[in-house]
Amino acid sequence: MDTSLARSLPEPEKPEPRNKVQRRRSEGRAQAKGRPVLNVAMVGHAFMGRAHSNAMRQVNRFFELPFEVVPKVVVGRHPERVEAARDRFGFEEASVDLAAVLAREDIHLVDVATPNDSHASISIAALKAGKHVMCEKPLAMDLKEARAMARLAASSGRKVGLWHNYRRCPAASLAQRMIARGDIGAVRQVRAVYLQDWLASADAPWSWRNDRAVCGSGAHGDLNAHLIDMTRFLTGLEFAEVCGLQHTFTTSRRDGAGAKRPVDVDDAFAFLARLSNGAIGTYEATRVAPGRKNYNRIEISGETGSILWNLERMNELEVFRYDAPADGQGFRTIMCMDSPHPYAGHWWPDGHIIGYEHTFVHTLADFVANLKGKKRFAPDFDDGVAVQAVLDAAVKSAQTRRWVKVPG
Ligand SMILES: NC(=O)c1ccc[n+]([C@@H]2O[C@H](COP(=O)([O-])OP(=O)(O)OC[C@H]3O[C@@H](n4cnc5c(N)ncnc54)[C@H](O)[C@@H]3O)[C@@H](O)[C@H]2O)c1
Repeated sequence: MDTSLARSLPEPEKPEPRNKVQRRRSEGRAQAKGRPVLNVAMVGHAFMGRAHSNAMRQVNRFFELPFEVVPKVVVGRHPERVEAARDRFGFEEASVDLAAVLAREDIHLVDVATPNDSHASISIAALKAGKHVMCEKPLAMDLKEARAMARLAASSGRKVGLWHNYRRCPAASLAQRMIARGDIGAVRQVRAVYLQDWLASADAPWSWRNDRAVCGSGAHGDLNAHLIDMTRFLTGLEFAEVCGLQHTFTTSRRDGAGAKRPVDVDDAFAFLARLSNGAIGTYEATRVAPGRKNYNRIEISGETGSILWNLERMNELEVFRYDAPADGQGFRTIMCMDSPHPYAGHWWPDGHIIGYEHTFVHTLADFVANLKGKKRFAPDFDDGVAVQAVLDAAVKSAQTRRWVKVPG
């Protein structure tokens, strides 16, 4: 090798670190648009951390908003892992010191993307530090904890939101609009299922999702929480009373290190419900339904029509109404990706579909837009309390084998 040539070449320029480039870009974008930045500290950086940070990077590119959202600091518990997350998810900084991050004046919004047992402590610390908070669902471990969070949020003067992202699928949003304007008449029945199969095998590994001390409950809090929120969103009704049934099919699993760990949460949880207008509902959540991956389906029957939405066909809405001639009646499918449909006009030309990740972008866009006024964002911690009240009542019912009234 000709080392003299190598010696005469100029030193290659060191690329500027990616976080510095990101900072310059977001500051530049905010300045160009003349809008203030909204610096976000995100706690937790795995599944939801990935979904949320993707939303942070996309939101200003597709929505006109009063703030430029900046993924500022990602917070974790292990220095190496949180640094890797910073690099991968596009944050400017990484930290393992949540208290220090909360003490900073330049952090405006705290995003809670950790397991359920830390939602309360992180949200409460963030609110006390004067930050806006977006928290993952279910809001809390139980109703008492959820109420404490909602009370503090109400007196904090800060905005809070829950990541019930499915509300903001264009088709689900359209369903809400149709039901609210009376397209199917008064709601009589709700049929909701959320079916998954990742715990069907007894060999599936143990995780925090099998540990009641960390998650509160199993399929119930994880999946029925979405169905309960969706019911309240779509129908505007509350839950009056419930009757639940739960079962754990695999009572111990091996963790990543091969150690046997007890499973003390439900694998499957079903419940009946009476809604506030007398309508009846059936709910089923499971992680042990072979073949079902993320089958989140809700069908609402009203006096004059029905509406059906299924996450696995997320851009479609099936609607039945009695207003066609008798021989032309039937369910029709609306592809909800045309410009008159909620959110659709922010993306691509008509019919160019969107996916799972966009629901998080919509949730963040609405939250950021809402920061400007006094109106509450929905779902907020009060909605989280309402969901938690139903979850807890259904557990109590399953334990006592009787109907339980949902506390208001
Ligand atoms: N909205 C949805 O559709 C949806 C989907 C999945 C999960 N979730 C909810 O999101 C939350 C997180 O779930 P996930 O799937 O991302 O879990 P995950 O296990 O993939 O990630 C959890 C992250 O939190 C970190 N963490 C754990 N405890 C912590 C603590 N005390 N302090 C700081 N960091 C901590 C972990 O290191 C990890 O980075 C849960 O509440 C879950 O119910 C919501």
